[in-house]
This record gives sequence, C-alpha cells and structure tokens, in this order.
Amino acid sequence: MTTIWRLLALCLLVLPLALAEPASAQQSRPGDAATVPAGEMQMFQQLQGNVEGRVSIPDQRAGMLIQPGGKQWRDFWRDTSPWVGGIAIGGMFVLLALFYLIKGRIPIEGGRSGETITRFGPIDRFAHWLTATTFIVLAITGLNIAYGRAILMPLIGPEAFAAFSEVGKLAHNYLSFPFVLGIVLMFVLWVKDNLPSRLDAEWFSAGGGFFTHRHVHARRFNGGQKLIFWSVVILGLAISATGYILMFPFTVTDLAGMQLSHVIHSVLSVILIAIILAHIYIGSLGMEGAFDAMGSGEVDLNWAEAHHDLWAEEQRAKGHVHSPHGRQAVPAE
Ligand code: HEM
Repeated sequence: MTTIWRLLALCLLVLPLALAEPASAQQSRPGDAATVPAGEMQMFQQLQGNVEGRVSIPDQRAGMLIQPGGKQWRDFWRDTSPWVGGIAIGGMFVLLALFYLIKGRIPIEGGRSGETITRFGPIDRFAHWLTATTFIVLAITGLNIAYGRAILMPLIGPEAFAAFSEVGKLAHNYLSFPFVLGIVLMFVLWVKDNLPSRLDAEWFSAGGGFFTHRHVHARRFNGGQKLIFWSVVILGLAISATGYILMFPFTVTDLAGMQLSHVIHSVLSVILIAIILAHIYIGSLGMEGAFDAMGSGEVDLNWAEAHHDLWAEEQRAKGHVHSPHGRQAVPAE
C-alpha cells in the first residue's frame, strides 16, 4: 500500500511537466506582434488612454473603440497567468510529494488509545463539507475556465471539452452561493477558537513540530490551522466578491474595474487552491487519525494529546472523553 502512495507521489513530482503549455497553444494568435503590422503595433504601444467614439444605440459602452487596459489584461492571461498557476499549484504538488517521500504518514504517537473526544459536531461538519465540496468543484471548473483550453482540450477533444465547460460554467456560477454560505457558517462557528495567540508564534517557530520531535502546545486550533481558517475566510470572501463583480457585469464597476477584478480573482484563487491542497493532504493521507475529526467527528485521545494537548486536557477535565464501550471516562482529578 505504502509503495502505491510513493509511486503516486513520484507521479505528482512530474505533473508540472505535463502542465507546461503544449506547443500547439504557443502558436501566434491575433494581437501577437507577429500578426500586427509594424506601424499599427507602434501606434498601439504609444496609445495611453481609451479611444472612444459616439454611438446612437442606448448602450453607450459600445462606443469604446480601443482600450489599452484590455491588452494588459490579455497579456496577463496569455503570458503571466500560466506561470502563476503552474508555480502555485504545480509547486505545491511537488512540495507535498517530497514531504510524503521524506516523512511518510505522520503516525499517532503511542498508537490509538481507543478513547475518543468529540472534536466537531454535526453542524461543524455540515459547514466544513458544504465549503469543501463546493470549493473543490469551483476550483476544478475555475481552472478549466483559465487553463482548460490549453491543457484539457488537447486531451479529451473539442466536443467533450465544450460539453464539460458548459456544465462547468453553470456549476461555477451557482455553487458560489453555497460556498459563501459555508464560509459564513465556519466563521461564526470557529472564529472564537481562531483568534491569534502567543502559542501560535511558538507553533510557527517550532515548524509545527513536523521536522523536530519537539512537542508544541496548542488549544483547539494550532497556528497552522488558524492560517488555513483565515486564508479561507479572507481569500475565500475576496475571491467571491471579485467573482460577483464578474457575474453581474457593470453593476458596481466599469470595464477596467472588471479586468482588475478578473486578475485578482484568478491570482487569489490559485493561491487558495495551493493552500487547500496542503490542508487536504494533512487532513487525510498525511496524518494518521486527522480525518476522523471531520469524518465521524470523534478523534482518538492520543491524537488529541499529540496535536492539541491543552484542548485535550480541557476536554478531559470536563469529562468529555468517551471510552470504547460508550461509557464516559471519569474526569481527571
Ligand atoms: C477532501 C478535502 C478535505 C479534507 C479531507 C479535509 C479535512 C479536514 C479535517 C480533518 C479538518 C479538521 C482538522 C482538525 O481536527 O482540526 C478540517 C478542518 C478545516 N477545513 Fe478541511 N478538508 C478538506 C477540504 C477543505 C476545503 C476545500 C476547505 C475550504 C475551502 C476546508 C477548510 C477547512 C477549515 C477552515 C478547517 C478548520 C481549520 C483547520 O483545521 O485547518 N477544508 N478539514
């Protein structure tokens, strides 16, 4: 089993090569220097502001003839965005694969005790999985919008790509609403346990204890988890806000504002996707016993004491430790 995971980790190491833009996508396209006559190119380069005409139809925006900001926006998508996405997401896959190859799965210190503590109740888990499932679909469909034409279309053909993209775009728009609801729920439920504290600085300076055998104290959430929480809340809401600016065009801003929102939306999204990849890894394959917290909601006492010792102590004192036979363990003296 471990060999299979190690082979998978090796495959992830070579994934960024497969993500490199295919040669067919690098052919000259309209707007490239090669396709525009030299004089016109010079004129475009010298152009500082918009060139607008007058139109007799009600939509005055149709009078916009040339908007140089549009060229910067197109250049971003064509030249910069594949690098941003490739480095953030491909880089994270490489880091996680290396981490797994070097460290393997982090075991529960002392093995499972059989005693458990309730870590997340049904509402917590509902909020988590609502956010998680919608985010995963939003991430896949968003990456398809940004890079699908260059990466997926050559693999599955134009017909299948068109069908997938059509459904994907609808999913991307509509699932944004339950995603925001999930973030708001998680914020309300967990914010009180995610306020920064002195322990977080200690957690970060000890590298979370991942690279040393030093024990790091933590309450309900450690420094790394707080980073995940605030990334989801802040980046998630910023991505949603810029997404709605694009979904309801010209409602709150003009064309230039929408182009800027589009760039911010995509950059923040690939950053959050990379962060969440690390979170998914550590919450499943990377650490024994972690998934139970969001699966059944019950975590093993030894796991809790290894990663959240102060919280475990508090729960034990309240008599919240469950023995394997359903009886509640006696509170500590
Ligand atoms: C298959 C995917 C995922 C798995 C297996 C997973 C697993 C987990 C687990 C086990 C925990 C509890 C950790 C603890 O005991 O404290 C957790 C917490 C959390 N998850 Fe996920 N998760 C997934 C996807 C996501 C996604 C997509 C998001 C947000 C976009 C997310 C956001 C959070 C947040 C904010 C927390 C609380 C902070 C933390 O513990 O890091 N999760 N997740």
